[in-house]
Amino acid sequence: MMVREGEAVTESGQQTAQTMAFEPQQLSDLLNTAVLVLNQELQLCFFNAACSQVLAISEKRLSGQRFPELFQYCELGKEPLLRALQQQTSFAISDVQTILHDGHPTLLDLYLTPFEHQDHWYLLLEIRQIERQRKISQENVQQHQHHAARELVRNLAHEIKNPLGGLRGAAQLLESSLSDEQKEYTQLIIAQADRLRKLVDRLLGPYRPPQQQYANLHQVIERVYQLAQLDNPAAIHFQRDYDPSIPVFRFDPELIEQALLNIVRNAQQALEQGGQILLQSRILYQHTLHGQRHKLVAAIKVIDDGPGIPTDIRDTLFYPMVSGKVGGSGLGLTIAQTLLHQHGGWIDCDSWPGHTEFTLYLPISDTEEPL
Ligand SMILES: Nc1ncnc2c1ncn2[C@@H]1O[C@H](COP(=O)(O)OP(=O)(O)O)[C@@H](O)[C@H]1O
Ligand SMILES: [Mg+2]
Repeated sequence: MMVREGEAVTESGQQTAQTMAFEPQQLSDLLNTAVLVLNQELQLCFFNAACSQVLAISEKRLSGQRFPELFQYCELGKEPLLRALQQQTSFAISDVQTILHDGHPTLLDLYLTPFEHQDHWYLLLEIRQIERQRKISQENVQQHQHHAARELVRNLAHEIKNPLGGLRGAAQLLESSLSDEQKEYTQLIIAQADRLRKLVDRLLGPYRPPQQQYANLHQVIERVYQLAQLDNPAAIHFQRDYDPSIPVFRFDPELIEQALLNIVRNAQQALEQGGQILLQSRILYQHTLHGQRHKLVAAIKVIDDGPGIPTDIRDTLFYPMVSGKVGGSGLGLTIAQTLLHQHGGWIDCDSWPGHTEFTLYLPISDTEEPL
């Protein structure tokens, strides 16, 4: 299919009546693929917004870089790029092993396309992160599932809560006309109704609207660390690694503290035999959450070296009442996920035996200083 400039052609070859004059930069910034242009010295002369996310490097650091410096390590040398330019042929290279500037080993797919512009040759590079693409679609499915499960539980909880009040009230009324011996039964009804009500309230969650205020995320993490320390078996060792470039921004520190504490408690409970818990914070550039791209996102990681999430609950981990523990409520992660949702954020989990990593993503939309 060939598309000539200025007119759009449908699959069937018919021309549509009109084309829209979109700005190329605007369109390229909407792509999830990193698109960049290198000159003959392999120096960067154009890049779209996805570049800083895919390559984990800030826009500021990107401009003017030469190709090898886009990565901490890239198994691909300069040669294939120079060859593409010399031979003026395009080609694709899959599964290129790289280490990004945030230290993550990552596999990339690269497409190289040389083109001529005002008598000079340039190389167009399209870069796609294989792992991240898979993760984004996985994240979408999980977000829908979480939403559906929450709706179900909320509706059910409300249905239980209403008649429960009546039941308790009726038992109280009845009690006044009963002998002491019979009162034992109404007491039982009242006690069980109260127990159910508490459960339902917990299912509905600690839902107050977030009270956004300028706050320091590291103070929140430190408070959680101190709370965890108060009740910490000696054999669990904490490590902290904070990114000082996270600015003061608007969020509800109490709610985020609660979410983080739920996750740290789980890690402590998983480390029955002792082990390490790492609390880490990082800033991410151009990160997509709930289908929306954010210029800055704070990521808090809680990493433990325990046995890992039991495989049978991995897919439904954030569902209410899913627990791998005897007597566990299975609400800690549901509540934490909901609290992050209230902030436009998201919790993600990667786990295998010996390594469990929860990441809390929190968009930074309003800071005290200009971004
Ligand atoms: N760091 C972790 N390591 C291993 N398993 C975990 C970890 N965090 C959570 N889990 C698993 O996820 C389940 C659900 O956690 P949660 O929602 O907090 O409920 P609860 O802690 O009441 O069981 C836990 O029961 C546990 O099996
Ligand atoms: Mg828990």
